Amino acid sequence: MQLTQEQKDMLSGKHGNAVRKSMEILVALGEIFGAKRLLPVKSVQISGVSYDNLGDAGLEFLEEMASDGKVRVKTTLNPAGMDIENWKALGIPEDFAKKQIMVIDAFRKMDVETTCTCTPYFIGNKPDKGDHIAWGESSAVTYANSVLGAYTNKEGGPSTIASALTGFTPEYGYHLDEKRQPGFIVNVKAKVDNPMLFGALGMIIGKKAEGKVPLIKGIGKATTDDLKSFSASIVTYGSAPIYHIEGITPNDYDEPSESFDVTEDDMKNALSEMNDTDDVDFVFIGCPHCSLDELKKISGLLKGKKVHKEFWIGVARPIKKKADELGYSKAIEESGAKFACDTCHVVAPLKGRFKGIATNSGKGVFYGRGKNKFKIAYRTLEECIDLAVKE
Ligand code: F3S
Repeated sequence: MQLTQEQKDMLSGKHGNAVRKSMEILVALGEIFGAKRLLPVKSVQISGVSYDNLGDAGLEFLEEMASDGKVRVKTTLNPAGMDIENWKALGIPEDFAKKQIMVIDAFRKMDVETTCTCTPYFIGNKPDKGDHIAWGESSAVTYANSVLGAYTNKEGGPSTIASALTGFTPEYGYHLDEKRQPGFIVNVKAKVDNPMLFGALGMIIGKKAEGKVPLIKGIGKATTDDLKSFSASIVTYGSAPIYHIEGITPNDYDEPSESFDVTEDDMKNALSEMNDTDDVDFVFIGCPHCSLDELKKISGLLKGKKVHKEFWIGVARPIKKKADELGYSKAIEESGAKFACDTCHVVAPLKGRFKGIATNSGKGVFYGRGKNKFKIAYRTLEECIDLAVKE
């Protein structure tokens, strides 16, 4: 791989130990994947933030990097294992909380913006079309590539830190236009008009994609929340972390020849596959983290009601603050629902705590079953709230 003088200096240790280690990671990665050079990145989203995933070895690595490393580009964090301020109310054990706070402190020392969210594009970490970035969380990566027209691979925790501390990423994979071309067409012949249905469509397409890039036709319109849900689901179930929707997403492409249809029957079958139960003791909305628009809707739906299940709303803290200012939070908090800033139902240590979860997220179904062994009620936002308020 060809390195500039600045990059060679980084590799030789001239800029300190953390930068040297970072450059070693990026060069090794670039060589494995045949990259010719390193590209400058506009922003980074670091994955692997939950202590539940990192463990002590991960924490030790972070503290070592933080001893002399500072980020060189805008960098935010993926959700952590708990709400950093409000962890007690969410029932997080104290030992876990101590370790999670040490993780966040290490990132703060590196000058990372310690807002923990999988929707960094709602809080000012929003690349423009054509920007190269190094993001880690799969739904955010897919949204950035597909909806924003940015260029990123789905990076692991160490490579996102390495990019943040050097400002570079190896040029391979979805940084190259030829890898972003669609491999098949999906003709959608069913009504898909809310985030839950987009999540189900994501599962159908993701399962058939075998890692290829889909070009989707037949979607008349899609909201930001629909695309957020779709981005999370499609990549979770097996698609490449980029898709094109005719008339909606901004990237150029050539038409492939292979195609298949998604019918109303396919959607019905997907929904029945994604639903196990009506009997839930936990409701989670905000996978990926809620938009302000979703909080407005939830607030309206919960107004004057009480929830009778543990009910978490995953959101980035700055969006929650905006909801406070706009008066959306009051009805939510008065109902007994809890904001889960910085975290979510998948990265928090919840295994064994609940038996059934209601969610409107296709990605939430996959990890709710896989990681936490929950039974699932896969419903619309409105239906999830009905289940939450039911005695
Ligand atoms: Fe975000 Fe957690 Fe879902 S990281 S995409 S809310 S699994």
